[in-house]
Amino acid sequence: MNDKWKIILGLVVFLAAVTFPVWRGAIAGAGEPPELQLPEGKTKCIESKEFMIDNHMNMLDEWRNMLVREDIHEYTSKEYGDTYEISLNKTCLNCHKKTEFCDKCHAYADVEPYCWDCHYDPKGD
Ligand code: HEC
Ligand code: HEC
Ligand code: HEC
Repeated sequence: MNDKWKIILGLVVFLAAVTFPVWRGAIAGAGEPPELQLPEGKTKCIESKEFMIDNHMNMLDEWRNMLVREDIHEYTSKEYGDTYEISLNKTCLNCHKKTEFCDKCHAYADVEPYCWDCHYDPKGD
């Protein structure tokens, strides 16, 4: 291999590495994550944002078990110590809009929670 080809090869590898974040999204077909509408005037969730992203489904599961099986109606934040009523509608969906928040991210992540067969969206829709 002469030097000219080495330079061209080096350049191709370099460009591929630099543009990786762009074409990775294109290959996955997912595009950019959606813009999520956060509640106005609120600065924190029940637990930290990172915890909520990873664990909100487990939290809801835990909430359902606490309420239905143990008749516990309140949840105390492990992170902040605030107390919340255990309710998908009255608590989560009091702050968050189902359509502009939950649904948008689920469409992006390609998950379809079946909860809404029974639970209603308090903000309409
Ligand atoms: C077949 C109907 C049905 C489906 C589907 C369903 N639930 Fe429920 N859920 C109920 C009923 C009934 C209660 C008890 C309500 C009560 O006692 O106030 C309940 C209670 C709850 C509670 C505690 C009280 C409240 O109002 O939030 C949570 C949290 C909950 N469900 C979450 C979920 C989640 C998350 C899903 C989806 C993964 C889901 N449920 C799917 C029927 C359903
Ligand atoms: C008091 C208002 C409030 C309540 C109640 C609330 N949230 Fe949040 N939530 C927020 C705010 C504000 C943020 C953004 C936090 C941040 O950016 O640090 C957030 C962030 C989140 C995120 C992460 C979103 C992201 O940025 O990717 C998820 C998921 C979430 N909430 C789900 C829930 C669920 C599920 C419930 C009910 C179990 C709930 N929230 C209850 C206000 C609330
Ligand atoms: C930042 C993105 C994001 C937001 C915002 C979000 N979710 Fe999720 N949700 C996910 C992902 C990703 C999964 C699938 C996780 C898995 O399968 O491990 C999921 C799963 C769930 C599940 C379990 C579904 C199942 O079939 O197992 C429930 C219930 C749920 N979300 C409820 C909510 C509710 C209610 C809100 C709005 C208050 C919300 N989510 C907001 C990303 C999000």
